Order: sequence, then structure tokens, then C-alpha cells
Amino acid sequence: MIIDEVRQHFGKSFGGEPTLVVSAAGRVNLIGEHVDYNGGEALPIAIQRRTAVAIRLRDGAKTTRINSGGTGGVLTLDHASLARKRQWTDYPAGVLDQLIGAGVDVPGLEVAVASDVPSGSGLSSSAALEVSFGFAVHTLMGLDTDLVALALLCQQAERQFVGVPCGAMDQLSAACGQRGHALYMQFNPATVRAVPFTESVLIVDTAVPRSLRGSAYAERVDECAAALAAIRVVTPDVPSLAAATMSQLGSAEMPDVQRRRARHVIAECERVRATMQTLARGERFPGRLAIASHESLRNDYECSSAELDWVVEYAMRAPGVAGARLTGAGWGGCAVVFGETSALLALQESMPSDFAQALGRKPRTWVVSADDGARVEG
Ligand code: GLA
Repeated sequence: MIIDEVRQHFGKSFGGEPTLVVSAAGRVNLIGEHVDYNGGEALPIAIQRRTAVAIRLRDGAKTTRINSGGTGGVLTLDHASLARKRQWTDYPAGVLDQLIGAGVDVPGLEVAVASDVPSGSGLSSSAALEVSFGFAVHTLMGLDTDLVALALLCQQAERQFVGVPCGAMDQLSAACGQRGHALYMQFNPATVRAVPFTESVLIVDTAVPRSLRGSAYAERVDECAAALAAIRVVTPDVPSLAAATMSQLGSAEMPDVQRRRARHVIAECERVRATMQTLARGERFPGRLAIASHESLRNDYECSSAELDWVVEYAMRAPGVAGARLTGAGWGGCAVVFGETSALLALQESMPSDFAQALGRKPRTWVVSADDGARVEG
């Protein structure tokens, strides 16, 4: 549907047909939270919520004319003077900025965007936009489309242009997703390996505004860097916080808050490896590790919320549910629930009204499975 929509936006904005239509995916992380910027491991899937980009070269000035079909009309990004504007076009502008910075002579472009990745709920709508736009430009210009390299370029766009100190998980998911597979990611350096995963999962968006999120995320990044520095005083050659052992952590001096952040990161990476091995044996997702992950995020990383805790506790009382945890950065946003598909569908029916009664807001829910990342649509 978004493919038809993006073609329509394109026709209305620029007339005629685009040369190329591509899309990239939103994501949900199965396990491995707040480990990407610590050199750890994670296991996300790309989902069937996607952002589509229709693109065509234009003659004349080196500007990108871009429209999302909303009320903003067609906006112009001048390649010679790209500046952050605190609006959605900062994501494609950041990607242009990276490409131009890498010496690519980006010609004038006409671009339309359509998306059904909900924005602001922690399903990586920004990464889906960056990657779909970057993939469209790369493919149109015949540039090398190594998907890991493209994802890392998009991550730098978000870090340097948009100003969010994120890891690479979201962009790697949007780019490298594979239908029927989870993505076993390592981040130091970034590699992605597909592991068969055909289960459905239930996503519950707690619909809590995440105003705290930006500053709390950056605070955690700093706390982890401080914990690593403290470990290196005793064990100088530890390459990343995720690579430290519990005993190295135990022999380092640091404030309790930093110690708990580090404990989460080290234990979470062990859970990712155990989960990956379980899936590689063809077994179902180990729900108890999802619960352990949630408890660690709630107690040690302190990024859960009353609503996320409510969803996890409620889900765990439902028959046929194996596990549940907060997913993404936390402080609001989404939880992911694992179990038999029939149990997830039943929960999708029963949970929203009980949630609304208990917490006074209406959650949004989706049952999804692993989908492709960046792909050409026509
Ligand atoms: C956000 C960031 C990711 C990752 C997660 C937490 O989604 O963009 O890089 O750090 O939070 O796991």
C-alpha cells in the first residue's frame, strides 16, 4: 500500500513517474538492548512496517525537492548549504551531508516519501527513513550498495547531523533485514548474520510521550563510557564495555550507578549469545531470557516505565505467552511479547481495554514477523 501511496505523492508533487521506488523497514529488537553503543551484540528483526521512497534525477540546481505527502508540501534541500532544521527532512538531509562529505557529487533529485512505520514509538521510523533514502540515492546513482556500509553511513547522519548519539542497530536492521530471519549483530566492528526466526511477535506501543528519552539516552551513553574508563584503570586492554567480564567489573572502582549500567550491558550480551544459540538449534525464542532482560533494564539500566512494566506483567499471566520485555531505548515506547501466535492474537484482543482502564491511555498493537530490509520495489 505505501508503494502505491509513494507513487501517487510523486505524481502529484513532480508529475510523471519516478525512475525507482525502494523501501526499508522499521525494526523491533528481540533481545540485546543498550549494547550497540557499547560494542556488544543484539538480535533484532526488520518488520512489515516500511518506509518507501520514490526518486528521479532532476536537471539544473543541485537541490533535493522532497515531499512526504503531508501538509508540508514540497521542501527544498540545497546540497551546498544543508543545515539542521529540527524537522523530518533532517534525516534525508543528514544522509546527503554524509554522501557529499564522502566526496559523492549528488545531482539534483526529486523525492517522495510514504511510510507506515509509526513515528515516535520506538520502531525506528527515523532509521527506516534514512536507510530508504540512502538506498534510493545509492541505487539511482549506481553507487556501491553494501548494506552494512550504507547503514553505518546513515548512523553517522543521525549522530552528526541530527545529533542523537545512537548505536548502529536500528540502521543495520532497516538495511539488512531478511524475511524469516533474526539478525545477529556484533558492533565492534559491525557485522550481521541471519539466524532463522519464523515466529510472530506482538508489539505493544504504550503510547507514552518520550520527552525524557533524548537526554536520558545520552546520559546512559556517558555513564557507560565512564564505567569502561574505570574498568580500564585496572584492566587497560578491554576493547569495549561489552567485552568486559563480571570479574573485571568487580575489581574496578566506580559509583554504584555506573556499576549497575555496566552489569546490565555485560549480562545482556550473554543473553543475546544464549538466545542466538537457542534459535540456531531450531528451538523457539527463550522467553525466560526476555524476562531476565526486562528485569535488568528495569532495575540496573532504569529505562523502563510503569506502562512497560504493566504490559510485561499482564502478558506473563496470559496462557501460551513465553516472555515479554521492553524493546528499543525504553522510557516509554514499545514492549515485545513472545509466544504461540494464537496466544499473541488473544492478548492483542484482551489487553488494550484492560490497559486503558488501568493506565488511562489506549495502546497500539501489531503482530509482526521478520521481514526484508532495504529492497527495490520497482
Ligand atoms: C535506540 C538507539 C539504538 C539502541 C537502542 C537501545 O533505538 O537508536 O542504537 O541503542 O535505542 O538498544
